[in-house]
Amino acid sequence: MKAKIKIFKNTGEIADEFANTLKTLAKAANGKAVHIALSGGSTPKIIFQYLKEKFGKELANPQFHFWWGDDRCVPPTDDESNYKWANELWLKEIEIPLTNIHRVLGENDPESEAIRYAQEIEKHLPFENNLPTFDFMLLGLGEDGHTASIFPNQMELLSSKNTCEVAFHPNTGQKRITLTGPVINNSKFIVFLAIGENKASKVKEILLDQQEDLPASHIQSNTGELIWWLDKNSAQNM
Ligand code: 6PG
Repeated sequence: MKAKIKIFKNTGEIADEFANTLKTLAKAANGKAVHIALSGGSTPKIIFQYLKEKFGKELANPQFHFWWGDDRCVPPTDDESNYKWANELWLKEIEIPLTNIHRVLGENDPESEAIRYAQEIEKHLPFENNLPTFDFMLLGLGEDGHTASIFPNQMELLSSKNTCEVAFHPNTGQKRITLTGPVINNSKFIVFLAIGENKASKVKEILLDQQEDLPASHIQSNTGELIWWLDKNSAQNM
C-alpha cells in the first residue's frame, strides 16, 4: 500500500503540523481521552522545544494522555531516557498533569516492566481488533531501518502477541521496552518522522524498494492512516 508522504521545509513546519494534528484529534474525540505515543531519539527533541515555545499551554489539553512507543531501561533522570527529554523540554514546561503522563518505569526490572506497561496500556486504551488502539503514534526511523525499539535482528517483535516486549539494542545490548508491531499497526494515525540526510537511503529502501528486512517496512495502519513526515534531505531519493 502506497504510504502518504508530506515534505516540510523545516522543523517549525513539522511542529505546527504536529500541534494542529493534536488539536484536530482533540476536537474529534468529543471530550474523550486522546492517547498519544511519543517516539524517542534526537529528532523529536527539536519538535518538543518548538511546541513548548510556540504553543505553550494551548496543548496542555486534559484530553491528551502521553505514552511512549519505546523507552530505554534506565532511570527517568538518565540522559538516555526518552521520557526525560519529552518531559524536560515540553510536558513539564506546559504542566501536563502527572496522571496524563504514562512513562515506562525504566528503573524497573525489564521483564516485569514490559508486563506492567502493557497492563497500564490495556487498562486505559480503547480496544479495536482485540488490541489497544492509540489515537496518534509518533515513530522515528533508525539508520538501520528500526522503529520504536524493533531492530532488524528482532523482527519477531513485529508479530508478538504481547502489547510490549523487552528489546535489546543490537550494538550496545541496552535493554528497552517497546510496543510490538500489531499494537503499533492498530493505531488510528501513525506518523513516521524522518528528517535529515542520514535517513534518505533508508526512506528510499522502505518507501520505494519496500525492503522486507527492515522493521519500518512492516508498519502500516490497519485501522487508519500512515503518513511519513520528511524534509527535503530525507526525501532526496524519492
Ligand atoms: C529510540 C527510538 C528510536 C528512534 C530512532 C530515530 O528510543 O531511540 O524511539 O526508534 O526514534 O532511532 O532516532 P533519531 O531521531 O535520533 O534519529
